[in-house]
Amino acid sequence: MGRLIDHEHFQWLLLLLLQTLIIAVAGAAASEKSIRTDQVEPVMAKPGCLDRCGKLAIPYPFGTTEECYKSEPFWVRCDHSTSNDHHHPKLYWQNTAMEINNISLLGQMTAMQFVSDSCYVSPQLKTNTVTNLRLSVLFSVNNTANKFTVVGCDSFGSISGERRSKGKGDYFTGCISSCSSINDPEEGSCEGSGCCQTSIPNDVWNVTLTVKTGFRKSSTAQSITNCSYGFLVEEGEFRFHPQNLTNLDKVEKLPLVLDWAIGTGNCEDARKNSSTYACKSGNSHCHHPENGYGYRCYCDPGYQGNPYLINGCKDIDECNPDRKNKSCHYKCHNTPGSFNCTCPKGFHGDGKVEGKGCSPEKSHVLEIAAGSTLGIIFLLLIACLAYMEYNRRQSKKTKRKWFVLNGGELLLNKLLKKDGSDQDMLKIFTSSELKKATNDFHKSNVIGQGGFGIVYRGLLSSETTVAIKKSKIVDPDQIEQFVHEVIVLSQINHPNAVKLLGCCLETEVPLLVYEFISNGTLLGHLRDQAKARFLDWPKRLRIAAGTAEVLSYLHSEPSNPIIHRDVKSDNILLDNNFTAKVADFGASRLIPLGQMQISTVVQGTTGYLDPEYLQTHQLTAKSDVYSFGVVLLELVTRRRAVRFAGPEEERSLACYCAWMMKEGRFAEVIDEHIRGEVGCLEEIMEVGRLAEWCVKMKGEERPSMQVVAASLRSVERIQAGNNGGDQAEEVVEGLFGSEGVVGDDGESGGGGDSSAEQVVPPPVIGGR
Ligand SMILES: *[C@@H]1O[C@H](CO)[C@@H](O)[C@H](O)[C@H]1NC(C)=O
Ligand SMILES: *[C@@H]1O[C@H](CO)[C@@H](O)[C@H](O)[C@H]1NC(C)=O
Repeated sequence: MGRLIDHEHFQWLLLLLLQTLIIAVAGAAASEKSIRTDQVEPVMAKPGCLDRCGKLAIPYPFGTTEECYKSEPFWVRCDHSTSNDHHHPKLYWQNTAMEINNISLLGQMTAMQFVSDSCYVSPQLKTNTVTNLRLSVLFSVNNTANKFTVVGCDSFGSISGERRSKGKGDYFTGCISSCSSINDPEEGSCEGSGCCQTSIPNDVWNVTLTVKTGFRKSSTAQSITNCSYGFLVEEGEFRFHPQNLTNLDKVEKLPLVLDWAIGTGNCEDARKNSSTYACKSGNSHCHHPENGYGYRCYCDPGYQGNPYLINGCKDIDECNPDRKNKSCHYKCHNTPGSFNCTCPKGFHGDGKVEGKGCSPEKSHVLEIAAGSTLGIIFLLLIACLAYMEYNRRQSKKTKRKWFVLNGGELLLNKLLKKDGSDQDMLKIFTSSELKKATNDFHKSNVIGQGGFGIVYRGLLSSETTVAIKKSKIVDPDQIEQFVHEVIVLSQINHPNAVKLLGCCLETEVPLLVYEFISNGTLLGHLRDQAKARFLDWPKRLRIAAGTAEVLSYLHSEPSNPIIHRDVKSDNILLDNNFTAKVADFGASRLIPLGQMQISTVVQGTTGYLDPEYLQTHQLTAKSDVYSFGVVLLELVTRRRAVRFAGPEEERSLACYCAWMMKEGRFAEVIDEHIRGEVGCLEEIMEVGRLAEWCVKMKGEERPSMQVVAASLRSVERIQAGNNGGDQAEEVVEGLFGSEGVVGDDGESGGGGDSSAEQVVPPPVIGGR
């Protein structure tokens, strides 16, 4: 096998060698021939017309006589008289003094253009020259190749003109150049010191250049130069030098690039009028420049020459061996507009140099090589696909893993056990859904942050705004507990609780989706002077009553009382009607049936934390009562729950208020914003007393949340009635009497005051 390949290999090398030899010989023979043929350049002018002026070509449509140019705008003069040397005549445009430097069939013409100047002849007398560039309709100033340039030390140069494109108005632009000292101007810099430059818009026509010296009447400037110059110049053809401030008067003209077109309008319009359409000669096409005016003709690919002459576009001989880039590897066949390559016998391929060239035919080497290459590519492809699939599954697996780890399975099982009505209370969101809603958990969507995690604002596809809480990592051992809590919380359907809409368990940490409450936290309202002033006593009372209602509701669920564990003003949200919405049940615990207290790690916020719970670690519903008492005191006093600045005895709001109450000085700590509200003082004092009861040191001495809620509701009812009198007094007196107050007063509260009633569904009492 090895010998066989060696043999084939050898044969192939031999052929290659032979081929190289043939090409070398053929090339040598051809190049000798081509030296003669290539000396004839493509014809550029009409037959019998002057096609050169000195070294400069005059391609048709340009011409020196009427028979030779296409139309008058293309009339040029070859003048022998202006040069001192008859062998170097100059070409001028029409009968103007505009000297032509170069004409390109691609639609450009370089012309020498006068420099405008403005000079002080004497301190009082100035001269100004204005240059008008009156061009034919087929010519315009090229806007990318030229720059309007002003040279001077106290100069303002302007350029104005017309634009012919539809809908374009005239334009006027310019620049200012100044020097504050002789050392200011820098070589090569045209940024306003001694020289300034500006671009011009496209398709400009009938250009007027003006330059004014003594623009700011600066004497420093006059000591440097008397003159200012302005001109349009081909970029790169003028490099500023500080000496140009004084030596430009010796220069008469500078090069300027003009665009020319063969006809007006675009190609489509031009083609409609076949008698004037210019791109009719064979193998040519029309083109309308994007930023220009009119149209031009070009030779088709594979052809070169003058597209404006009949049959002016000649086929390019790609097979000419003199060409720098050889077209074919072996044998070349020129065709009109293109070429073909062939390979020697026994070889195949398209033979173009850019390609692979010729390869031996039907070789085993090739077959094996091609076979193995294909095989490798195929294998790579398979590997690639397999890898992608593996990745996809892996990510799916990870999601699945988190889902399971986060108790998704359990949750689903539990949900499935419920009846249909319960199921649509809690929605399982996918991680991509929530990613989209929060713009990939972007920083700008963060609306809250704390020990519990981060809360994001999210916009679901149904256009509802939600709050999405990224919790802290959940202890895997507590998953069942977490799931249980999620389910219970989802069922808290109370107007004063932030509703849990659903969750997402596909991520590392479970995401909880809540309804979005727009008006911020109670703490935020109390801390902000302006907002606090707006928070009048009735509003505060309603917030207190609402919060008490929901806590009482949570505590009174007969089978499984729920303890919030983190009641504080920062967890009480307000909606636009100042309805309290208790949030963050993240730390809350269900107390299993038959157990009134559970032992846990202490959790909560300083200032609100039940001191008894802190000592005994025994969590009961009374801990929430203590925290709520502190919130009540905050509402009444607008002081912080804890403050480290100030006297020691004022550090804890609960202790301080209890002490002030004992001293009979409680009225002093009432927030001044509400203290003055007419007829409210007794109510405020009543709530203060209730708060003091709530923050009693011993849990058993505190009232239950049901009693607190009922008391607040009574105060609220008096407040709403606010017709003063004996009735109110009566109820206040009876406030702390018994828990039965709730049921009894529900009916007798009097007419018209329904607002307080609406937010409060009767809590379930008893059953414990
Ligand atoms: C004229 O312009 C063409 C194309 O821009 C350029 O290749 C040629 O060198 C120029 N000829 C002269 C004399 O400047
Ligand atoms: C500008 O000044 C430099 C230095 O004297 C000179 O070489 C150059 O030709 C000047 N430019 C023009 C356009 O006169």
